[in-house]
Amino acid sequence: MATKRIIIAIDGYSSCGKSTLARELAVQLGYNYIDSGAMYRAITLYFLRNSVDLTDHAAVRAAIADINLSFVFNEHRQASDIYLNDENAEPYIRDMIVSEKVSEVAAIKEVRTFAVAQQQRMGHDKGIVMDGRDIGTAVFPHAELKLFMTADPEVRVMRRFKELYATNPAITIDEIRHNLELRDYIDSTRDESPLRRADDAVIVDNSNLTRAEQLTIVLEMVKDRTK
Ligand code: DC
Repeated sequence: MATKRIIIAIDGYSSCGKSTLARELAVQLGYNYIDSGAMYRAITLYFLRNSVDLTDHAAVRAAIADINLSFVFNEHRQASDIYLNDENAEPYIRDMIVSEKVSEVAAIKEVRTFAVAQQQRMGHDKGIVMDGRDIGTAVFPHAELKLFMTADPEVRVMRRFKELYATNPAITIDEIRHNLELRDYIDSTRDESPLRRADDAVIVDNSNLTRAEQLTIVLEMVKDRTK
């Protein structure tokens, strides 16, 4: 009997290792992995490049109408790159300039409506792992497996630092700590689908887990939900 294909929704604070786990799960299960944060980052990149005034609703709506987002699988990364109007935006979306603005952009109602509609279409055939902030609460409230990831704040800061230092040796630990704290605050206090744990989400605290351990634990949960 073929195993049931499900939707796996992963939410949590910034830099909790959501995308690492999501990517590894997708590879193991032969599922699609969608990084919903990449969509908000690509929209932010477009807004920054075009100096869109975030307080001007008409300007925001017009900008959104000009944005086309798509994902193209990258064999090397074993994950999809996000394309912003036919340009691979992956090299730019994790720059600090984008990280500093993205939570503000993601709090705009029109932006969320646009992104969520596209995310829901991508989940139509199931067999998908999506990570973000509102996946289990707003995008896929009926997902078969919901995870809420957390990790000790200092562990998260150091993980992020190691990741960013490789491409930007000028970055400081304080800068990263400040950005993570601010984004978590904005993401969890905004009016539009704030970050919160869905009542039926399983908490995964990976402060003291290796990648392999966390993957094994979650694959057991998947096995259980796909019976
Ligand atoms: O996962 P990330 O750090 O790349 O996400 C970037 C920002 O996008 C994050 O600070 C909040 C926002 N976001 C969101 O509001 N909803 C999602 N589903 C995913 C990300």
